[in-house]
Amino acid sequence: MKIAMISSECVPFAKSGGLADVVGALPGALKSLGHDVIVIMPKYREIEIAEHNLQLYLSPMGVWMGDSVEWCAVHSTTNEDDVPIYFIESNKYFNREGLYHDTEFNDFLDNPRRFGFLAQAALQFCRDIRFYPDIIHAHDWQAALAPAYLKIWHWNDPVLGEAASVLTIHNIGYQGVYDAQDYNYLGLQVGNFTSDKFEDHGRINFLKGGIYYADLVNTVSPTYADETCTPKYAQGLAPYLNNKGENYIGILNGIDYTQWNPAVDTLIPARYTVDDLAGKAVCKRELQQRFGLEVDPAIPLVGLVSRMVDQKGLDVLADAIEGIVEDMHVQFAVLGSGNKWLERFYGDLPQRYPGKIGSYVGYSNELAHWIEAGADFFIMPSRYEPCGLNQIYSLKYGTLPIVRATGGLDDTVQQYDEADGSGTGFKFWEPSPQAIYFTVGWAVSTYYDRPTHLQQMITRAMKERFSWEESARSYEAAYLQAIMNKQLL
Ligand code: ADP
Ligand code: GLC
Repeated sequence: MKIAMISSECVPFAKSGGLADVVGALPGALKSLGHDVIVIMPKYREIEIAEHNLQLYLSPMGVWMGDSVEWCAVHSTTNEDDVPIYFIESNKYFNREGLYHDTEFNDFLDNPRRFGFLAQAALQFCRDIRFYPDIIHAHDWQAALAPAYLKIWHWNDPVLGEAASVLTIHNIGYQGVYDAQDYNYLGLQVGNFTSDKFEDHGRINFLKGGIYYADLVNTVSPTYADETCTPKYAQGLAPYLNNKGENYIGILNGIDYTQWNPAVDTLIPARYTVDDLAGKAVCKRELQQRFGLEVDPAIPLVGLVSRMVDQKGLDVLADAIEGIVEDMHVQFAVLGSGNKWLERFYGDLPQRYPGKIGSYVGYSNELAHWIEAGADFFIMPSRYEPCGLNQIYSLKYGTLPIVRATGGLDDTVQQYDEADGSGTGFKFWEPSPQAIYFTVGWAVSTYYDRPTHLQQMITRAMKERFSWEESARSYEAAYLQAIMNKQLL
């Protein structure tokens, strides 16, 4: 199949979260299955031409929006799997600091125009280079207008007319809802501003429109697919996802074991494997030192790497963490950025609990690897979690996850059973400080009192495999289903 992926993020070029990891790895896995895949994304300012060997590929390219033409250029390079990556360059839309918001975390006001343009430009690019896609695969709200444009604008286009579309929802908390003033610019046609398509309480909802128009919609774990068919988790979109019936499915993400694997990870202080954990002890010592924690191999260390946003439940953890470190002999190493009050709260903790809590406010891939490798446990108290990658990385690093049993966290972590030492982590259900307190307590007591169980769990966790190959096969099946749906139209 010929597959064109459209995404606002892709490792190693631009990343704010797991979406980038997925779009960095899935195309290579599909390529290994014999497919012809390209990725189209914005040329943000932070993507260095020299660093990534970008070549000017096409210039100028005219893109028709609803009421005007935008001019841009396209650069190209390949990723490490030799997948072609194309970058849409528009000074007006992408040559600024930040992906979606300014340094104060305020959304850019022209985001609807920026990402409507991205979707339309990506399709125009396929036409210009005569890439006849069987599948247009759009990721999240930022690319969600592509399935709509295919059906509204390009239904009889010689290059795009046969293409079916798949929309992947990585996070329903971000739908791209904006004032209707840009509707004409987006060119979605007045008749489609209805509540089953783009209209959402008088505003435009990108994701909702994408769900309507895509030939198949998926999200990134089976449990989150079920959850988002209910009002509690769907943030207003449950009826529209239910309408898709069997064309709304969950496909669990894989992880990139060339990047996240303690046996080959060059970012961490020492490498280790399931058969020889000596390197993990080195990583723990170095992590304790770097985060200003008391250096002692005997104290259990809990890691946290997260975007600091509502979804991740860090406000709930904030109500529990002080009680935990006051009552238990345990340490925390925290890395994250986002919401200012959470940054301040976690940033201040090391001064209040010196030696017990270390934190780094900001974004650091290296520190993320250090925490995965050096901690004993990894905590994710998410309110909801479409898939979650960090807990899967943790399993590979023998760092047992402590998670709220939701979405992909529930699908990837097996509950510890004290009776026989089975399981790979510690789950709780209530998003409450009490539940976090007691579950961390459970992990800590297992560390001190049941070391044999802990060892068994570490071994089991490190042997788990969530490979991209398997996920890519599921995407392959989903693409075929989308193509069939399109043909039935
Ligand atoms: P989400 O996409 O919702 O943020 P995931 O668990 O899927 O959650 O993916 C998060 C990814 O972003 C992981 O690769 C994680 O290591 C990375 N990450 C998040 N915050 C930071 C940070 N402050 N520094 C470095 N990496 C981070
Ligand atoms: C989103 C989700 C996360 C998921 C990631 C990649 O950002 O919040 O759970 O792992 O996308 O699919």
